[in-house]
Amino acid sequence: MTAEPDTGTVLITGAARGIGAATARRMATCGWSVVLFDRDEKVADTAASIESAGGRALACRGDVTSESDWAAALARAHETFGPLDALVCNALATDHTPLHEMTLASWQRQLDVNLTGAFHGVRACLPDLRRDRRGAIVIVSSVHAGFGLPGVPAYAATKAGLTGLTRQLATEYGGEVRVNCVLPGPILTAQWDGSAEDERAASAAETVIGRLGDPEEVAGPIEFLLGASASFVTGATLTVDGGWSITKNSS
Ligand SMILES: NC(=O)c1ccc[n+]([C@@H]2O[C@H](COP(=O)([O-])OP(=O)(O)OC[C@H]3O[C@@H](n4cnc5c(N)ncnc54)[C@H](O)[C@@H]3O)[C@@H](O)[C@H]2O)c1
Repeated sequence: MTAEPDTGTVLITGAARGIGAATARRMATCGWSVVLFDRDEKVADTAASIESAGGRALACRGDVTSESDWAAALARAHETFGPLDALVCNALATDHTPLHEMTLASWQRQLDVNLTGAFHGVRACLPDLRRDRRGAIVIVSSVHAGFGLPGVPAYAATKAGLTGLTRQLATEYGGEVRVNCVLPGPILTAQWDGSAEDERAASAAETVIGRLGDPEEVAGPIEFLLGASASFVTGATLTVDGGWSITKNSS
């Protein structure tokens, strides 16, 4: 058995804000060096706040759909911290539109960011992650992977695709890289900015805990899955939804 490290270098996509930023802060607090990859220029502020709190962080501006942006981010990460030990695929695109009104461009963009973005990221990072047979990947899917809710056909299809991709990658690289998936439920991030108060209250009431989650409450499970405590966990899907989905199952 190869002992897994409890720290190392992790690259997190969609890390400028929300769950990605919370994960970056959590990993840095736990002693990891963190590469924050996001297309939003605010990623520099998020990295700076981690550094001013005493962490090690590098901001890389780029789009997860761009092979050349991945190459540039990896080159900067190597220069700054050396090879990666872990990857979190978290960036998302979504469009709340029923399929009959959705444009092909919108459908394609969501597939490109959510699913093909993970493909690019995993392919770019695998040489690092496989190098000493103890890499780890967490893919951020959603409860939408397993439950039908109106208005998000492309998003739900990509999130279900990511759970399949998790199992496939875990099988393919089992002895070298652990690959797990988290399925967040309603988490209060900018994704909820346009929502009405009663919509938030209704979603909170659908959890058994009775509230929306905080991004930090997804960051903790991601940190667990990346670290040595999860050394025998691979191909798993960890639901982080305050019990939202168990009420669906029991209805
Ligand atoms: N918030 C929720 O209720 C919820 C529920 C289930 C699943 N999730 C999942 O959690 C993850 C994070 O969601 P969030 O709520 O923190 O979202 P968010 O909108 O707060 O953050 C997403 C980040 O991804 C970045 N991003 C978007 N497209 C990108 C691209 N092409 N390249 C690089 N970066 C890009 C954005 O700039 C942003 O910083 C997503 O995978 C989402 O599907 C969220």
